[in-house]
Amino acid sequence: MISLVVQASLLCLLITCTSCHDINVYNSDYGVYVGDLSSPESDVSGQVFIVNATTLQIFNFTFNPDQQDLYFWLDIKDTPTKEGIKAHTYEYGITPLGPFPEDNDRVVVHVPEKHRLDEFKSFSIYSFKTDKNFGSLVLPEDMKIPKSVALSSEFTGKRYKLRSGPLYVLDRRTIKVYGFTFEGNKAPKTYFYAGRGASVSYSSGVKVAIRGKDDKEISEISENYRGGKDIILELPENYDIFHIDWISVYCYKYRVNFGSVLVPTDDTLANLPPYVPSINRSDEEKPMSRRVLKGSANRINFTFQLGHIEHIKNYNGNLRSPKYVWHVNSVMSPDLYLKRHVTYKFNVEGGRDKLLPDIYNPLYIGDDENGGYNELSQNEAERVTVYSPGPIDSHTGPLCLWMHNRDKTANEPETYLECDGWPEDVHSFAFTPNDTTPSVLYYNSANNFNMGGKIYIVDELPENVEDSAEVPYNREKWHTLALSRQRADKVNGSKTTIAAVFLIILTIMLS
Ligand SMILES: *[C@@H]1O[C@H](CO)[C@@H](O)[C@H](O)[C@H]1NC(C)=O
Ligand SMILES: *[C@@H]1O[C@H](CO)[C@@H](O)[C@H](O)[C@H]1NC(C)=O
Ligand SMILES: *[C@@H]1O[C@H](CO)[C@@H](O)[C@H](O)[C@H]1NC(C)=O
Ligand SMILES: *[C@@H]1O[C@H](CO)[C@@H](O)[C@H](O)[C@H]1NC(C)=O
Ligand SMILES: *[C@@H]1O[C@H](CO)[C@@H](O)[C@H](O)[C@H]1NC(C)=O
Ligand SMILES: *[C@@H]1O[C@H](CO)[C@@H](O)[C@H](O)[C@H]1NC(C)=O
Repeated sequence: MISLVVQASLLCLLITCTSCHDINVYNSDYGVYVGDLSSPESDVSGQVFIVNATTLQIFNFTFNPDQQDLYFWLDIKDTPTKEGIKAHTYEYGITPLGPFPEDNDRVVVHVPEKHRLDEFKSFSIYSFKTDKNFGSLVLPEDMKIPKSVALSSEFTGKRYKLRSGPLYVLDRRTIKVYGFTFEGNKAPKTYFYAGRGASVSYSSGVKVAIRGKDDKEISEISENYRGGKDIILELPENYDIFHIDWISVYCYKYRVNFGSVLVPTDDTLANLPPYVPSINRSDEEKPMSRRVLKGSANRINFTFQLGHIEHIKNYNGNLRSPKYVWHVNSVMSPDLYLKRHVTYKFNVEGGRDKLLPDIYNPLYIGDDENGGYNELSQNEAERVTVYSPGPIDSHTGPLCLWMHNRDKTANEPETYLECDGWPEDVHSFAFTPNDTTPSVLYYNSANNFNMGGKIYIVDELPENVEDSAEVPYNREKWHTLALSRQRADKVNGSKTTIAAVFLIILTIMLS
């Protein structure tokens, strides 16, 4: 019986093994193979490799999320449980996984800060709300973890104060130089240079890029490095650490080696992390800069309502954006500057209907950037400190939604507000930062991720930061405006207007 089961699973292995890597075996291109993410219950698959103590990568990943709350998951049990932790991706951060772009040849998964892969027993795709496993693998018992390697020498030379701290080979194409010192502002036409052979020579070398400085093309070193900074060298595409013998600070003009380090030729580099291309953060992907509202003496009240972000590209950079974001005093998710020892009033109008998740938005202030407190795993929620008073779910209010005035007439504003509820229903809480309040906090929704912005807690409001103009309003009038529009629709024979409340709910559900 047992042998039958073994045979069956072996057969299974043979059938599903597309690329046939051995478990816990190092491959210099991919890392250490730990298994296939697959499950009979879902169409998840992919080959999982360890990059280093805090990173995994998955190749040939197929995944069609048909559920809203799936996450990469690490657990100390053989299968995922609610006690495990989320692992993050560049694409989705801590928010639920969505589809990955077709042309992604790999998905890189990061272990949250302060954790290491060898603390865990399993890796999976998991829904902690429904406690369902969508594919998992058990990490090998004595898991091999690729490690960066320290070189045995450092840069030192007689000219231009060349010095450095230790050098680490982070992966086959990346070298970190601690505390680099060099008077690049005085040295004639000098580059980092790497090549083959017993000694440094012009003809066998190639220029090496400094990350951050030479991202587009390699230019000569012209900065005066004083040792306070670590730098990262990136070998060119067709090179790697296994194919060079030295790295030099090399004067191109006079063909002088100012100082060099040797690359070991023995097996010290045998377990080096694989090279993981850094994701191209083009300007297109960078998050937009936020507008600012300063909490000055004549602005101590902040009203939080919802609005779309449809017309703004890259609101969250790489992260998935929610359907609505907070609009504060009419401004789309600004960063706020609040003064210590001033009491501010936060009015909440983000909806309180639990049945419609997009428009159920308890407002809270916390030290967690992405928000979504009610959607966090136990482990994540424990790390968050909430600074708004009282229970998080108590801070909900009527729904007010900023709409684009698509058929606006000349003297109407660009946007208008629709509210479901009445001014008397508005819920408020007071917030008074004091000396112990951290200098950066975030306002968010407990029910949806990434809806808010930063709150800078300051002693004095900065003068060099531009304050945003609010769309002036009188709450009474807003209601009148919204209601009068609906009345106008009714007069003009629109079928949608039954009651103001239903119209709004309908607008939301249709949009
Ligand atoms: C991905 O799949 C292709 C085609 O099946 C295979 O050749 C390749 O080796 C796989 N990649 C890895 C890292 O296993
Ligand atoms: C692990 O590898 C990733 C990807 O190359 C890198 O971003 C990260 O800094 C590395 N972590 C450590 C601890 O070396
Ligand atoms: C990265 O961006 C550059 C231009 O900024 C582009 O030429 C290159 O193809 C991009 N690489 C990837 C992997 O997207
Ligand atoms: C803030 O709101 C309160 C009522 O809640 C009002 O009395 C006060 O005048 C407002 N302050 C400012 C500066 O708008
Ligand atoms: C500062 O505010 C916090 C609440 O955010 C409160 O617990 C603490 O006692 C306050 N500290 C002082 C010195 O008032
Ligand atoms: C709708 O009614 C308002 C007044 O109630 C009027 O000003 C407006 O011109 C009407 N619009 C159309 C399209 O008939």
